[in-house]
Amino acid sequence: MNENNYCFLSKKKLEQIQNKIKNNEDVLILGVESSCDETSVSIVKNGRQILSNIIATQIPIHKKFGGVVPEVASRNHILVIDKVLKEALDVAKCDLSSIDAVAVTYGAGLIGALLVGINFAKSLAYALQVPLIAVSHVEGHICANYLSHQKLKPPFLCLMVSGGHTAILKIDSYTSHKLIGTTIDDATGEAFDKVARVLGLGYPGGVEVDKLARQGEANIQFIKNNSLKSSFDFSFSGIKTAVINYVHKLKQSLKQDLNEKQKKDICASFQKFVIDELTSKSLRACKTFNLNKLVIAGGVGANSGLRKKFDEIQKQENIEIFYPNLDLCTDNAGMIASAGYFQIKDNIGIANLNLTAKPTINL
Ligand code: KG4
Ligand code: ZN
Repeated sequence: MNENNYCFLSKKKLEQIQNKIKNNEDVLILGVESSCDETSVSIVKNGRQILSNIIATQIPIHKKFGGVVPEVASRNHILVIDKVLKEALDVAKCDLSSIDAVAVTYGAGLIGALLVGINFAKSLAYALQVPLIAVSHVEGHICANYLSHQKLKPPFLCLMVSGGHTAILKIDSYTSHKLIGTTIDDATGEAFDKVARVLGLGYPGGVEVDKLARQGEANIQFIKNNSLKSSFDFSFSGIKTAVINYVHKLKQSLKQDLNEKQKKDICASFQKFVIDELTSKSLRACKTFNLNKLVIAGGVGANSGLRKKFDEIQKQENIEIFYPNLDLCTDNAGMIASAGYFQIKDNIGIANLNLTAKPTINL
Protein backbone atom coordinates (compact mmCIF):
# COMPACT_ATOMS: atom_id res chain seq x y z
CA MET A 1 0.00 0.00 0.00
CA ASN A 2 1.27 3.40 -0.94
CA GLU A 3 1.07 5.95 1.88
CA ASN A 4 0.29 8.60 -0.78
CA ASN A 5 -2.96 6.83 -1.49
CA TYR A 6 -4.38 8.27 1.69
CA CYS A 7 -2.95 11.74 1.25
CA PHE A 8 -5.04 13.28 4.02
CA LEU A 9 -5.27 10.20 6.19
CA SER A 10 -2.66 8.09 7.89
CA LYS A 11 -2.51 4.39 7.09
CA LYS A 12 -2.86 3.84 10.85
CA LYS A 13 -6.25 5.56 10.93
CA LEU A 14 -7.53 3.34 8.11
CA GLU A 15 -6.24 0.23 9.87
CA GLN A 16 -7.99 1.30 13.09
CA ILE A 17 -11.35 1.14 11.31
CA GLN A 18 -10.50 -2.13 9.59
CA ASN A 19 -9.60 -3.55 13.02
CA LYS A 20 -12.95 -2.38 14.41
CA ILE A 21 -14.64 -4.43 11.67
CA LYS A 22 -12.42 -7.46 12.41
CA ASN A 23 -13.27 -7.20 16.12
CA ASN A 24 -17.01 -7.00 15.35
CA GLU A 25 -17.25 -3.48 16.79
CA ASP A 26 -19.99 -1.26 15.35
CA VAL A 27 -18.91 0.78 12.33
CA LEU A 28 -20.99 3.64 10.90
CA ILE A 29 -20.59 4.52 7.23
CA LEU A 30 -22.05 7.71 5.81
CA GLY A 31 -23.07 7.20 2.16
CA VAL A 32 -23.52 9.92 -0.46
CA GLU A 33 -25.31 9.35 -3.80
CA SER A 34 -25.87 11.98 -6.51
CA SER A 35 -25.31 10.15 -9.82
CA CYS A 36 -28.58 11.18 -11.46
CA ASP A 37 -31.65 12.97 -10.10
CA GLU A 38 -31.78 11.80 -6.49
CA THR A 39 -29.71 13.54 -3.81
CA SER A 40 -29.26 11.06 -1.01
CA VAL A 41 -27.33 10.73 2.24
CA SER A 42 -27.55 7.68 4.47
CA ILE A 43 -26.02 6.30 7.63
CA VAL A 44 -25.63 2.52 7.73
CA LYS A 45 -24.38 0.38 10.62
CA ASN A 46 -22.14 -2.61 9.85
CA GLY A 47 -23.10 -2.65 6.16
CA ARG A 48 -26.56 -4.06 6.96
CA GLN A 49 -28.62 -1.78 9.19
CA ILE A 50 -30.06 1.48 7.89
CA LEU A 51 -30.11 4.20 10.55
CA SER A 52 -31.26 6.78 8.00
CA ASN A 53 -31.60 6.94 4.21
CA ILE A 54 -32.78 10.38 3.10
CA ILE A 55 -33.60 10.86 -0.58
CA ALA A 56 -34.43 14.26 -2.10
CA THR A 57 -35.89 13.47 -5.49
CA GLN A 58 -35.85 15.90 -8.41
CA ILE A 59 -38.57 14.06 -10.35
CA PRO A 60 -41.07 16.98 -10.21
CA ILE A 61 -38.37 19.33 -11.57
CA HIS A 62 -37.39 17.11 -14.54
CA LYS A 63 -40.93 15.87 -15.30
CA LYS A 64 -41.76 18.95 -17.36
CA PHE A 65 -38.74 18.28 -19.61
CA GLY A 66 -39.66 14.60 -20.13
CA GLY A 67 -36.30 13.42 -18.77
CA VAL A 68 -33.32 14.42 -16.64
CA VAL A 69 -31.62 17.68 -17.68
CA PRO A 70 -28.01 17.15 -16.49
CA GLU A 71 -27.17 20.78 -15.69
CA VAL A 72 -30.41 21.28 -13.78
CA ALA A 73 -29.70 18.07 -11.83
CA SER A 74 -26.22 19.27 -10.76
CA ARG A 75 -27.56 22.63 -9.58
CA ASN A 76 -30.31 21.04 -7.55
CA HIS A 77 -27.90 18.61 -5.88
CA ILE A 78 -25.89 21.64 -4.72
CA LEU A 79 -29.01 23.34 -3.37
CA VAL A 80 -30.16 20.46 -1.17
CA ILE A 81 -27.19 18.24 -0.27
CA ASP A 82 -26.35 19.92 3.06
CA LYS A 83 -30.00 19.81 4.18
CA VAL A 84 -30.14 16.11 3.22
CA LEU A 85 -27.01 15.47 5.34
CA LYS A 86 -28.54 17.28 8.31
CA GLU A 87 -31.74 15.26 8.06
CA ALA A 88 -29.77 12.00 7.72
CA LEU A 89 -27.91 12.79 10.97
CA ASP A 90 -31.11 13.85 12.75
CA VAL A 91 -33.04 10.71 11.75
CA ALA A 92 -30.08 8.46 12.66
CA LYS A 93 -29.76 10.36 15.96
CA CYS A 94 -26.02 10.63 15.61
CA ASP A 95 -23.50 13.39 15.02
CA LEU A 96 -20.64 13.64 12.57
CA SER A 97 -18.05 12.66 15.19
CA SER A 98 -19.47 9.12 15.28
CA ILE A 99 -18.99 8.51 11.52
CA ASP A 100 -16.16 6.02 10.78
CA ALA A 101 -15.90 6.54 7.00
CA VAL A 102 -17.56 8.31 4.07
CA ALA A 103 -18.57 6.33 0.96
CA VAL A 104 -19.53 8.07 -2.26
CA THR A 105 -20.70 7.07 -5.75
CA TYR A 106 -17.93 8.02 -8.21
CA GLY A 107 -19.66 6.59 -11.32
CA ALA A 108 -21.42 5.66 -13.50
CA GLY A 109 -23.67 8.66 -13.91
CA LEU A 110 -23.98 12.28 -15.00
CA ILE A 111 -20.59 13.86 -14.57
CA GLY A 112 -21.76 17.19 -13.09
CA ALA A 113 -24.19 15.46 -10.74
CA LEU A 114 -21.53 12.99 -9.56
CA LEU A 115 -19.04 15.79 -8.93
CA VAL A 116 -21.39 17.46 -6.44
CA GLY A 117 -21.57 14.31 -4.31
CA ILE A 118 -17.86 13.55 -4.69
CA ASN A 119 -16.73 17.02 -3.60
CA PHE A 120 -19.18 17.02 -0.71
CA ALA A 121 -17.93 13.59 0.42
CA LYS A 122 -14.27 14.64 0.06
CA SER A 123 -14.82 17.72 2.21
CA LEU A 124 -16.60 15.68 4.87
CA ALA A 125 -13.96 12.94 4.94
CA TYR A 126 -11.17 15.54 5.10
CA ALA A 127 -12.84 17.55 7.87
CA LEU A 128 -13.59 14.44 9.91
CA GLN A 129 -10.22 12.81 9.09
CA VAL A 130 -11.91 9.53 8.15
CA PRO A 131 -11.40 7.29 5.11
CA LEU A 132 -13.08 8.15 1.82
CA ILE A 133 -14.35 5.15 -0.14
CA ALA A 134 -15.11 5.29 -3.88
CA VAL A 135 -18.14 3.13 -4.71
CA SER A 136 -19.41 2.09 -8.13
CA HIS A 137 -23.12 2.75 -8.47
CA VAL A 138 -23.59 -0.79 -9.82
CA GLU A 139 -21.93 -2.33 -6.73
CA GLY A 140 -24.29 -0.18 -4.68
CA HIS A 141 -27.36 -1.62 -6.39
CA ILE A 142 -26.13 -5.17 -5.60
CA CYS A 143 -25.54 -4.22 -1.94
CA ALA A 144 -29.12 -2.89 -1.60
CA ASN A 145 -29.96 -6.57 -1.16
CA TYR A 146 -27.73 -6.91 1.93
CA LEU A 147 -29.86 -4.19 3.54
CA SER A 148 -33.10 -6.02 2.73
CA HIS A 149 -31.92 -9.58 3.46
CA GLN A 150 -29.82 -9.74 6.61
CA LYS A 151 -28.63 -13.31 6.01
CA LEU A 152 -27.85 -12.99 2.29
CA LYS A 153 -24.21 -13.84 1.51
CA PRO A 154 -22.23 -14.43 -1.70
CA PRO A 155 -21.87 -16.49 -3.86
CA PHE A 156 -24.99 -15.86 -5.93
CA LEU A 157 -26.06 -14.80 -9.37
CA CYS A 158 -27.26 -11.23 -9.87
CA LEU A 159 -29.58 -9.82 -12.52
CA MET A 160 -28.74 -6.11 -12.72
CA VAL A 161 -31.54 -4.13 -14.37
CA SER A 162 -31.32 -0.35 -14.08
CA GLY A 163 -31.66 2.71 -16.27
CA GLY A 164 -27.99 2.53 -17.21
CA HIS A 165 -27.07 -1.17 -16.97
CA THR A 166 -28.41 -4.59 -17.77
CA ALA A 167 -26.27 -7.58 -16.91
CA ILE A 168 -26.02 -11.01 -15.39
CA LEU A 169 -23.19 -11.06 -12.85
CA LYS A 170 -21.69 -13.88 -10.85
CA ILE A 171 -21.10 -12.46 -7.36
CA ASP A 172 -18.12 -14.30 -5.87
CA SER A 173 -17.62 -12.17 -2.75
CA TYR A 174 -18.91 -8.92 -1.24
CA THR A 175 -16.43 -7.01 -3.41
CA SER A 176 -15.80 -9.08 -6.53
CA HIS A 177 -17.89 -10.30 -9.43
CA LYS A 178 -17.61 -11.66 -12.96
CA LEU A 179 -19.63 -10.49 -15.91
CA ILE A 180 -21.65 -13.32 -17.48
CA GLY A 181 -23.75 -11.34 -19.93
CA THR A 182 -24.70 -7.77 -20.69
CA THR A 183 -26.80 -5.70 -23.06
CA ILE A 184 -25.27 -5.13 -26.48
CA ASP A 185 -27.31 -1.93 -26.92
CA ASP A 186 -29.97 -0.36 -24.63
CA ALA A 187 -30.33 -0.96 -20.90
CA THR A 188 -33.70 -2.34 -19.78
CA GLY A 189 -34.75 0.85 -17.96
CA GLU A 190 -33.80 2.92 -21.00
CA ALA A 191 -36.15 0.80 -23.18
CA PHE A 192 -38.96 1.21 -20.61
CA ASP A 193 -38.42 4.98 -20.54
CA LYS A 194 -38.44 5.28 -24.37
CA VAL A 195 -41.65 3.24 -24.67
CA ALA A 196 -43.25 5.44 -22.00
CA ARG A 197 -42.16 8.52 -23.90
CA VAL A 198 -43.62 7.48 -27.26
CA LEU A 199 -46.91 6.70 -25.48
CA GLY A 200 -46.87 10.11 -23.75
CA LEU A 201 -46.77 8.55 -20.27
CA GLY A 202 -44.33 11.06 -18.82
CA TYR A 203 -41.19 10.68 -16.76
CA PRO A 204 -40.00 8.48 -15.12
CA GLY A 205 -41.44 6.01 -17.57
CA GLY A 206 -40.83 2.52 -16.19
CA VAL A 207 -43.29 2.78 -13.36
CA GLU A 208 -46.03 4.14 -15.69
CA VAL A 209 -45.52 1.31 -18.22
CA ASP A 210 -45.69 -1.15 -15.31
CA LYS A 211 -49.03 0.37 -14.17
CA LEU A 212 -50.67 0.18 -17.61
CA ALA A 213 -49.22 -3.29 -18.33
CA ARG A 214 -51.07 -4.66 -15.29
CA GLN A 215 -54.39 -3.67 -16.92
CA GLY A 216 -53.56 -4.71 -20.51
CA GLU A 217 -53.37 -7.89 -22.57
CA ALA A 218 -50.03 -9.05 -23.99
CA ASN A 219 -51.56 -9.70 -27.43
CA ILE A 220 -49.11 -7.95 -29.77
CA GLN A 221 -45.98 -9.60 -31.14
CA PHE A 222 -43.70 -6.69 -32.02
CA ILE A 223 -40.72 -8.79 -33.13
CA LYS A 224 -40.49 -12.46 -33.88
CA ASN A 225 -37.52 -13.81 -32.01
CA ASN A 226 -34.32 -12.77 -30.44
CA SER A 227 -31.05 -13.35 -32.26
CA LEU A 228 -29.10 -13.69 -28.97
CA LYS A 229 -31.15 -16.64 -27.76
CA SER A 230 -28.23 -18.93 -27.01
CA SER A 231 -26.00 -16.34 -25.26
CA PHE A 232 -26.33 -14.57 -21.90
CA ASP A 233 -26.31 -11.17 -23.60
CA PHE A 234 -29.38 -9.03 -24.07
CA SER A 235 -30.62 -6.68 -26.78
CA PHE A 236 -33.49 -4.27 -26.22
CA SER A 237 -33.09 -1.76 -29.05
CA GLY A 238 -34.98 -4.04 -31.49
CA ILE A 239 -38.10 -4.27 -29.32
CA LYS A 240 -37.87 -0.57 -28.43
CA THR A 241 -37.71 0.49 -32.11
CA ALA A 242 -40.49 -1.96 -33.04
CA VAL A 243 -42.79 -0.44 -30.37
CA ILE A 244 -41.97 3.11 -31.50
CA ASN A 245 -42.70 2.23 -35.17
CA TYR A 246 -45.91 0.42 -34.21
CA VAL A 247 -47.16 3.44 -32.26
CA HIS A 248 -46.31 5.91 -35.05
CA LYS A 249 -48.01 3.77 -37.71
CA LEU A 250 -51.10 3.22 -35.57
CA LYS A 251 -51.39 6.96 -34.86
CA GLN A 252 -51.06 7.73 -38.58
CA SER A 253 -53.75 5.25 -39.54
CA LEU A 254 -56.09 6.42 -36.76
CA LYS A 255 -55.27 10.10 -37.34
CA GLN A 256 -55.57 10.57 -33.57
CA ASP A 257 -53.88 9.58 -30.34
CA LEU A 258 -54.15 6.01 -29.07
CA ASN A 259 -56.92 5.14 -26.66
CA GLU A 260 -56.29 3.76 -23.16
CA LYS A 261 -56.95 0.12 -24.16
CA GLN A 262 -54.40 0.33 -27.00
CA LYS A 263 -51.79 1.87 -24.68
CA LYS A 264 -52.39 -0.80 -22.03
CA ASP A 265 -52.02 -3.65 -24.54
CA ILE A 266 -48.83 -2.13 -25.96
CA CYS A 267 -47.34 -1.82 -22.46
CA ALA A 268 -48.36 -5.37 -21.52
CA SER A 269 -46.92 -6.83 -24.75
CA PHE A 270 -43.65 -4.90 -24.50
CA GLN A 271 -43.24 -5.72 -20.82
CA LYS A 272 -43.91 -9.44 -21.39
CA PHE A 273 -41.20 -9.58 -24.06
CA VAL A 274 -38.67 -7.93 -21.73
CA ILE A 275 -39.63 -10.10 -18.74
CA ASP A 276 -39.38 -13.31 -20.78
CA GLU A 277 -35.88 -12.31 -21.91
CA LEU A 278 -34.68 -11.39 -18.41
CA THR A 279 -36.17 -14.35 -16.59
CA SER A 280 -35.27 -17.07 -19.12
CA LYS A 281 -31.63 -15.98 -19.32
CA SER A 282 -31.24 -15.57 -15.56
CA LEU A 283 -32.69 -19.01 -15.00
CA ARG A 284 -30.42 -20.59 -17.61
CA ALA A 285 -27.41 -18.82 -16.05
CA CYS A 286 -28.31 -20.17 -12.57
CA LYS A 287 -28.37 -23.68 -13.99
CA THR A 288 -25.17 -23.24 -16.05
CA PHE A 289 -23.21 -21.88 -13.08
CA ASN A 290 -24.84 -24.20 -10.61
CA LEU A 291 -26.04 -21.42 -8.31
CA ASN A 292 -29.46 -21.59 -6.68
CA LYS A 293 -29.59 -18.01 -5.37
CA LEU A 294 -30.63 -15.23 -7.76
CA VAL A 295 -30.53 -11.60 -6.61
CA ILE A 296 -32.29 -8.82 -8.52
CA ALA A 297 -30.75 -5.32 -8.47
CA GLY A 298 -31.57 -1.89 -9.95
CA GLY A 299 -34.63 0.24 -10.64
CA VAL A 300 -36.37 -2.19 -13.02
CA GLY A 301 -36.27 -4.69 -10.15
CA ALA A 302 -39.30 -2.74 -8.85
CA ASN A 303 -41.36 -3.94 -11.85
CA SER A 304 -44.43 -5.83 -10.63
CA GLY A 305 -44.60 -8.13 -13.69
CA LEU A 306 -40.96 -9.12 -13.30
CA ARG A 307 -41.43 -9.91 -9.60
CA LYS A 308 -44.58 -11.94 -10.35
CA LYS A 309 -42.79 -14.02 -13.01
CA PHE A 310 -39.80 -14.63 -10.73
CA ASP A 311 -42.17 -15.66 -7.93
CA GLU A 312 -43.66 -18.29 -10.27
CA ILE A 313 -40.17 -19.50 -11.21
CA GLN A 314 -39.21 -19.75 -7.56
CA LYS A 315 -42.17 -22.06 -6.94
CA GLN A 316 -41.28 -24.34 -9.86
CA GLU A 317 -37.48 -24.43 -9.70
CA ASN A 318 -34.99 -25.04 -6.94
CA ILE A 319 -33.98 -21.36 -6.93
CA GLU A 320 -34.29 -18.77 -4.19
CA ILE A 321 -34.95 -15.27 -5.51
CA PHE A 322 -34.14 -12.06 -3.63
CA TYR A 323 -35.19 -8.48 -4.41
CA PRO A 324 -34.37 -5.29 -2.52
CA ASN A 325 -37.31 -3.64 -0.73
CA LEU A 326 -39.08 -1.38 -3.24
CA ASP A 327 -37.60 1.85 -1.78
CA LEU A 328 -34.09 0.39 -2.14
CA CYS A 329 -34.48 -0.66 -5.82
CA THR A 330 -34.02 2.85 -7.16
CA ASP A 331 -31.16 5.22 -6.33
CA ASN A 332 -30.39 5.80 -2.64
CA ALA A 333 -27.29 6.35 -0.50
CA GLY A 334 -28.02 3.40 1.82
CA MET A 335 -26.80 0.97 -0.82
CA ILE A 336 -23.64 3.06 -1.30
CA ALA A 337 -22.90 3.08 2.45
CA SER A 338 -23.41 -0.70 2.55
CA ALA A 339 -20.98 -1.20 -0.36
CA GLY A 340 -18.54 1.15 1.37
CA TYR A 341 -18.53 -1.04 4.49
CA PHE A 342 -17.66 -4.21 2.56
CA GLN A 343 -15.02 -2.34 0.52
CA ILE A 344 -13.23 -0.89 3.54
CA LYS A 345 -13.28 -4.36 5.09
CA ASP A 346 -11.60 -5.81 1.95
CA ASN A 347 -9.39 -2.72 1.50
CA ILE A 348 -10.90 -1.87 -1.89
CA GLY A 349 -11.61 1.56 -3.34
CA ILE A 350 -9.92 3.60 -0.57
CA ALA A 351 -9.77 7.00 -2.24
CA ASN A 352 -7.89 10.24 -1.81
CA LEU A 353 -8.64 13.87 -2.63
CA ASN A 354 -7.84 13.21 -6.33
CA LEU A 355 -10.99 11.12 -6.68
CA THR A 356 -12.96 12.19 -9.73
CA ALA A 357 -16.21 11.30 -11.45
CA LYS A 358 -16.49 8.60 -14.11
CA PRO A 359 -19.46 8.80 -16.49
CA THR A 360 -19.14 5.10 -17.38
CA ILE A 361 -17.78 2.08 -15.53
CA ASN A 362 -17.01 -1.32 -17.05
CA LEU A 363 -18.88 -4.07 -15.31
O1 KG4 B 1 -31.50 1.93 -10.78
P1 KG4 B 1 -32.16 3.17 -11.17
O2 KG4 B 1 -32.91 3.95 -10.14
O3 KG4 B 1 -31.17 4.18 -11.81
C1 KG4 B 1 -30.05 3.80 -12.56
O4 KG4 B 1 -29.05 3.44 -11.94
O5 KG4 B 1 -30.19 3.84 -13.80
O6 KG4 B 1 -33.14 2.78 -12.35
C2 KG4 B 1 -33.95 3.70 -12.97
C3 KG4 B 1 -34.73 2.97 -14.05
C4 KG4 B 1 -35.53 3.91 -14.91
O7 KG4 B 1 -35.29 3.60 -16.26
C5 KG4 B 1 -36.96 3.62 -14.50
O8 KG4 B 1 -37.89 3.84 -15.53
C6 KG4 B 1 -36.87 2.15 -14.13
O9 KG4 B 1 -35.65 2.04 -13.45
N1 KG4 B 1 -37.98 1.72 -13.27
C7 KG4 B 1 -38.88 0.78 -13.64
C8 KG4 B 1 -39.80 0.67 -12.57
N2 KG4 B 1 -39.42 1.54 -11.58
C9 KG4 B 1 -38.29 2.16 -12.03
N3 KG4 B 1 -38.97 0.06 -14.76
C10 KG4 B 1 -39.99 -0.81 -14.85
N4 KG4 B 1 -40.92 -0.97 -13.89
C11 KG4 B 1 -40.86 -0.27 -12.73
N5 KG4 B 1 -41.79 -0.43 -11.77
ZN1 ZN C 1 -29.20 3.39 -10.08
